[in-house]
Amino acid sequence: MTNKLRYFIGNWKMFGDFSDFKIIKKINRFSHKSKKLYKKKKIVLCVPSTLIYNFKKKLSSRYISLGAQNCHYHQEYGSFTGSLNAKMLKSAGAEYIILGHSENRLEGETYQAIKKKIISAINQKLNVIFCIGENYKEKKKSRTLSVLKKQIKGSLEKKFVNDKIIIAYEPVWSIGSNKIPKINELRNTIKYIKNDFRKTFKTKKYPKVLYGGSVNPKNIKLFSSIVEIDGFLIGGASQSSKKFIDIIKNYYK
Ligand code: PGA
Repeated sequence: MTNKLRYFIGNWKMFGDFSDFKIIKKINRFSHKSKKLYKKKKIVLCVPSTLIYNFKKKLSSRYISLGAQNCHYHQEYGSFTGSLNAKMLKSAGAEYIILGHSENRLEGETYQAIKKKIISAINQKLNVIFCIGENYKEKKKSRTLSVLKKQIKGSLEKKFVNDKIIIAYEPVWSIGSNKIPKINELRNTIKYIKNDFRKTFKTKKYPKVLYGGSVNPKNIKLFSSIVEIDGFLIGGASQSSKKFIDIIKNYYK
């Protein structure tokens, strides 16, 4: 099996309260115990902002990182009722942040707003998980690659593109649907994203690209044949320690 670094990032979405620390605790313990077996794994749990501080404090020894799921684009305090900025999330204990998730794009989040959020997150030295993906209609019209190109160009800029940006390719039609792309198609899409990124930002470095959308313990093995995938963004299945741990175990089987 590959010895390249692999990310397993959980996206809890709007799930969880303080008692769900038990899930984090089990995953943290697994991460520690499997340190030697799966040396090159990085586990991150992006939980609701209300839980970050508490979870971080409770984890006396940390073998996983915690992340947030969105932020306001404004860098300082301001009159934005109900919002949190990157600085606040960082001070609560987040090391990662998901931005541009399709569930937020659907609510009207623009390319420009995502770009501003990315800049403020990078200014706080947060690692950004930048989500892109086509919807079903776009897929049917064979527009997948042009949509991805537009999303990348629309929210990233050469000047702030660095190792802190991880791209997560999540086809909208595969999120929470139990549908996954054909493996060959997925391989080509991931390669396209990596190459397009290099061309667009005139860099020699390939970005890290994750896959997300209905990843579960049963289908994870299918993805392991695509060496270009640097890891996974896992939604529903990350709300169960067993499923999340089984995904990692089965990936390396
Ligand atoms: P899912 O969600 O794994 O439940 O499909 C993935 C995501 O939305 O990040």
